[in-house]
Amino acid sequence: MSGKFPIQPIGRFAGASQPVKRPKEFACFSYDDNHEFHLDDSSIRYYYTPRLGADLSKGYESFQKLDDSKDGHLDALLKTIMAYESEQGKNIDAEIITWRGMMTKILGAPFENFDGFEMNATLYQGSIFIEENHAYKVASKEAQHQQQQNRSRRGPPPEVMSYWGYKFETLSTLPSIWAETSRDYIEAREDHIVNNKAQYCSVVRTGIGSSILCLGGEVDAIWDSKPVEHGKPINWVELKTSLEIRGAKDMEIFHRKLMKFWIQSFLLGVPKIVVGFRDRDGFLVKVDEIETQRIPQTINATPNPSWNADLCVNFAGTFLEWLKQTINDEGVWRIRRLPQTPEIEVFKVEETGHGDILSEEFKNSRIKL
Ligand code: A3P
Ligand code: MG
Ligand code: MG
Repeated sequence: MSGKFPIQPIGRFAGASQPVKRPKEFACFSYDDNHEFHLDDSSIRYYYTPRLGADLSKGYESFQKLDDSKDGHLDALLKTIMAYESEQGKNIDAEIITWRGMMTKILGAPFENFDGFEMNATLYQGSIFIEENHAYKVASKEAQHQQQQNRSRRGPPPEVMSYWGYKFETLSTLPSIWAETSRDYIEAREDHIVNNKAQYCSVVRTGIGSSILCLGGEVDAIWDSKPVEHGKPINWVELKTSLEIRGAKDMEIFHRKLMKFWIQSFLLGVPKIVVGFRDRDGFLVKVDEIETQRIPQTINATPNPSWNADLCVNFAGTFLEWLKQTINDEGVWRIRRLPQTPEIEVFKVEETGHGDILSEEFKNSRIKL
């Protein structure tokens, strides 16, 4: 059953927020410096205040950059779920299983009019698995690159600006808690090679409206250390860089950016966002700690709020209910929002099977219902 879900008018999603569940981590995995998968927390990083004045461009020539041209599908997430299910002797109860990034796009859709998205989805044993449509991601990255090339711009190239974000992560984190990190390591932080192949990913169970979700996503750092007891809130830290705010216009842009920061962090239950403000040349000028849960009220208190958190949640809750009705039999489905259009379309692209969304390994391992 294909269909279209209208985004506009968004007024129908206004009002008190549908219920949300606090995300609880039930599993995690790591990619190491070679981007190899490990079913553990080995790549977790510990937050440590960076030095103001640091040069975020430093070391760009030795950047160990992840090659993201390969389509990883949901593989790492599925491996982690598989291990958890075999340990528990039962399948997880999530109705929607996906990367956090996909849900970020959905929650932001009511206030995001320019960017489109494409995802593939399949129903298997009662759960809808959603991946990003890799071909679309590659094409839109290429288009964005072209745009940046065409625009006559001052300042550093976009590759260097993207490096700044990873450099900030390296400057603000340690591989072990402070007390167990050598003075030499801490002092040499600004010279460490930046490598974005390593990642720690949290896998959580959460709920939006009437839907139970399992989301996997990267977390940048932890404030203290992981609680021993499972299911306890974890003091995760999301790291972000942003241009320093020097006037009303900058503030308006920053408030808009806070929507993505908030959605991304809210979905995994990340309580704190540390923003490294930089100047136009990429020098760190200020560091701010922002509590994720306070962002919605900060925005609501502005004279003309550019977005609303409750509305994002209500939109997603209603959309997911509709999605569960729509994706009701086998095959591969496309979930698509064309740029600058007021609706999300869902239609079948393969009549049977699950495409490449689900690995053979995962399908075979699942406990049969
Ligand atoms: P900033 O967010 O500080 O710019 P994340 O914040 O999601 O953990 O991502 C870490 C960094 O990856 C970003 O840091 C940015 O440098 C880079 N990055 C993420 N998404 C990007 C995109 N769409 N284009 C370019 N760089 C991106
Ligand atoms: Mg990150
Ligand atoms: Mg970050």
